[in-house]
Amino acid sequence: MLLDTHGRTATDLRVSLTDRCNLRCTYCMPEEGLSWLAKPELLTDDEIVRLVGVAVGQLGVTEVRFTGGEPLLRPGLVSVVERCAALRPRPRLSLTTNGIGLERTAGALRAAGLDRVNVSLDTLSSQTFERITRRRRHGDVLRGLAAARDAGLTPVKVNAVLLPGVNDSEAPELLAWALAEGYELRFIEQMPLDAQHGWQRGRMVTAEEILAALERRFTLTPEEGRGSAPAERWLVDGGPGRVGVIASVTRPFCRACDRTRLTADGQVRDCLFAREESDLRGPLRAGADDAELAELWRRAMWGKKAGSGLDEPTFEQPARPMSAIGG
Ligand code: GTP
Ligand code: 5AD
Ligand code: SF4
Repeated sequence: MLLDTHGRTATDLRVSLTDRCNLRCTYCMPEEGLSWLAKPELLTDDEIVRLVGVAVGQLGVTEVRFTGGEPLLRPGLVSVVERCAALRPRPRLSLTTNGIGLERTAGALRAAGLDRVNVSLDTLSSQTFERITRRRRHGDVLRGLAAARDAGLTPVKVNAVLLPGVNDSEAPELLAWALAEGYELRFIEQMPLDAQHGWQRGRMVTAEEILAALERRFTLTPEEGRGSAPAERWLVDGGPGRVGVIASVTRPFCRACDRTRLTADGQVRDCLFAREESDLRGPLRAGADDAELAELWRRAMWGKKAGSGLDEPTFEQPARPMSAIGG
């Protein structure tokens, strides 16, 4: 098992498949100038499946989520999913994507064994979409979402980050749309993980503000049984529709954290905000066996800090930006 000194067990693995992306969301990446990992640094498909196998077979991981950058940009994604679905005990498999290209691949991903997807979409306006993402791809995302739902990659969850003066007035509209489409919408507080270090606490839309805006139009009833999920959830107008809020900044949930992360270049991160990483790629390429890799992974997680440190005056952003961690 992946234990730490604060009594937590990591059973949920997030695997970043690439640090590249075809959007340039302002809260994540600069317009240009970010450098990418070089091909030889990236884990190969075989290496990824091997490490996921160690996590599932030896370390008690039961949930595997593929992230990026944008994971649909990884050529071998469908086959990686298929091979991970063949591992025993079979992990639950999910994907967090910006939705571009999902229209084409949702069916193949489902057939390969993917269970569900989360898609990022911050606005219903194509102009606002272009302002946030710096790309004209709003229609692709909407079509990708519908394809995921039609392929049975459900529940399809939609992640929205609200930015003051840009899309923060859209919260109720987004919720009404998601309910009508059958998607589960979650609002995410903006976190200090952007490559350009532009985050300011005072310029962030808080969970409290989001909930107040939603309550002007909907009746929200808190749902019990959150477990280790980052999202707090509410039934909307008595249900069955729901809405979630991921309040990493104003209501941190680190005490219940069950996550471990693997970067596209084979480093274990014990926390989204970790400033240190543990290398698995080097030992893997040097011939370490599964038991040795498992031991290195255990050691990496044992040192996990109690929390993100966001509220401490000494907080410093990790060197690796969100786009290379995968959220
Ligand atoms: P579900 O199981 O589908 O609900 O997944 P999720 O909400 O954990 O995953 P997703 O990839 O959709 O991430 C949504 C947001 O939660 C992103 O902004 C992530 O960065 C954030 N997030 C995911 N895991 C953690 C975590 O362990 N800590 C914090 N602080 N944020 C997280
Ligand atoms: N703060 C909060 N969420 C972010 N995401 C990307 N950057 C940030 C940030 N700085 C979201 C994306 C995606 C998820 C993986 O993380 O919108 O839905
Ligand atoms: Fe876990 Fe770190 Fe997220 Fe806290 S901030 S919930 S410790 S990954």
